[in-house]
Amino acid sequence: MESDQIIPSLLTIQDANKSYGGIPVLIGASLDLKAGEVHALLGENGAGKSTLIKLMAGVVPADSIQIHIRNQPAVINHPQAAFNFGLRFIHQELNVVPQLSVAENIFLGQKYPTYGGIFVAWQKLNERARAVLAQLGVTHIPPRAKVARLSPGDQMLVSIARAFVGEDTEETSAIVYVMDEPTAALAGQETAQLFTVINTLRKRGCAILYVSHRLDEIFQIADRITVMRDGQVVNTSSIQSVTPNDLIHIMTGRTLQQVYPARENQSNTQTLFDAQMLKTTAIHGVSFQLAQGEILGVAGLSGSGRTELLRGIMGADRLINGTLLLDGQSIKHASPASSWKRGIAFVPEERRSQGLILSRSVGNNVTLPQLRYLSRIGIFLNHRAEWNTSTTIGESIRLKSRNPSQIVRQLSGGNQQKVVFARALVRPPRILLLDEPTRGVDVGAKADIYALIRKISAAGTGILMASSDLPELIGMTDRILIMHKGRMAGIVETKGLTEAKLLKLCYGELRDNDN
Ligand SMILES: Nc1ncnc2c1ncn2[C@@H]1O[C@H](COP(=O)(O)OP(=O)(O)OP(=O)(O)O)[C@@H](O)[C@H]1O
Ligand SMILES: [Mg+2]
Repeated sequence: MESDQIIPSLLTIQDANKSYGGIPVLIGASLDLKAGEVHALLGENGAGKSTLIKLMAGVVPADSIQIHIRNQPAVINHPQAAFNFGLRFIHQELNVVPQLSVAENIFLGQKYPTYGGIFVAWQKLNERARAVLAQLGVTHIPPRAKVARLSPGDQMLVSIARAFVGEDTEETSAIVYVMDEPTAALAGQETAQLFTVINTLRKRGCAILYVSHRLDEIFQIADRITVMRDGQVVNTSSIQSVTPNDLIHIMTGRTLQQVYPARENQSNTQTLFDAQMLKTTAIHGVSFQLAQGEILGVAGLSGSGRTELLRGIMGADRLINGTLLLDGQSIKHASPASSWKRGIAFVPEERRSQGLILSRSVGNNVTLPQLRYLSRIGIFLNHRAEWNTSTTIGESIRLKSRNPSQIVRQLSGGNQQKVVFARALVRPPRILLLDEPTRGVDVGAKADIYALIRKISAAGTGILMASSDLPELIGMTDRILIMHKGRMAGIVETKGLTEAKLLKLCYGELRDNDN
């Protein structure tokens, strides 16, 4: 925003209150969105950001709340009411229907174009979906494709596109866009495209409420910030008046000396794991060795085969070719279950569909992979042990759940991610495969997770860490394997590597001899 003349409020929320089972999660929260501003909503995992957004969206009923839209009192008790007031939402968790096509998902709950009001005009629907996606600069997702077949990032793009229906025909009356961690699963390029769209909306006089745990994004896009802590709003200010360290302090109440913990000298270089010429339907000829206590990063653009490499090792995708040796022993016919048994633990990228049983408790989820193993060898689960382990690990990464018997669905997004992480550590693994381990996790908890990763590697576990977060790869790994279009482009030493150079390598722009 450019001047300090009075800018009209498009939406104000006052005194929002919400409790679950007698436990307050929102306490007198207030928020004010002005025309033409990008307003960042910040706070640790579990602070109440998504809950506040769900009240605004009419998805969850408030205990009490006062809403004004353009200074007129408004009641939002249903998603349709929010829509009619011109509010658009991109919710944190994917709410796509996997069995339906991209186009059907984008127009879900809206009127499909028809012939004579009877037959759906599929061609038209697909064309409009294409146009909506194109506004976001997305041209690689076919409108006819089944959403279940898309990567998590592409599913997120479909979910984002839904908020922009109507924009393509300019018949929209949208005034406020609310985006709850839209970029958590996006690649850098896609984030840049979204920011272009946000800038256009801002110029048009819309207000954008933006949630992200990536502080660099906040400083790039936000005009004002509001910080929540334990259900309360603790600060609203202009972005110019705070530094990143201020923000961390306001959010967490602590100062972070360093995000990436220093590495102790690695004395043991014994090879733990040896993968040769791995081939699945998605990756071709990948070979590497992993030493005890080593952290090997896996970098690459989205679609380059990072996730698929981990899936091949884990046995989630069938190996067509190649050999895997753990401690010199050949692994044949790997499957996720047999991998867990061998001590190969896995933190998958998409926690809700691949990682968790949402209807089960935290304790159950944490011991999930062990469950089958333990019952097979005739041991009944020791519930007390289960509770103890999940509590200890949970505490070390500040998992915010009431107790281990809380249902996972009730946790905030970032806390669900922490459950997936804790699960991999219940039995100290020989090998730990991490795919986007800190996605959706707040800055403070990220530092805790990094410290834990260091500790595990110091104890001898070999770690393979795939990530789209380049600073994270540079801050944490010893070497980085670079994937490019399903093939291995090379392995580089992390020491001395810059983000710019790593990005170039990911784009396949540097040859081996430039290393
Ligand atoms: N259905 C529910 N039942 C019980 N507690 C809930 C429910 N939904 C949310 N909560 C609790 O409300 C609190 C706030 O959660 P919310 O999802 O709003 O956090 P958030 O700020 O969005 O966090 P994140 O950054 O992890 O997404 C959490 O402690 C969460 O466990
Ligand atoms: Mg949230």
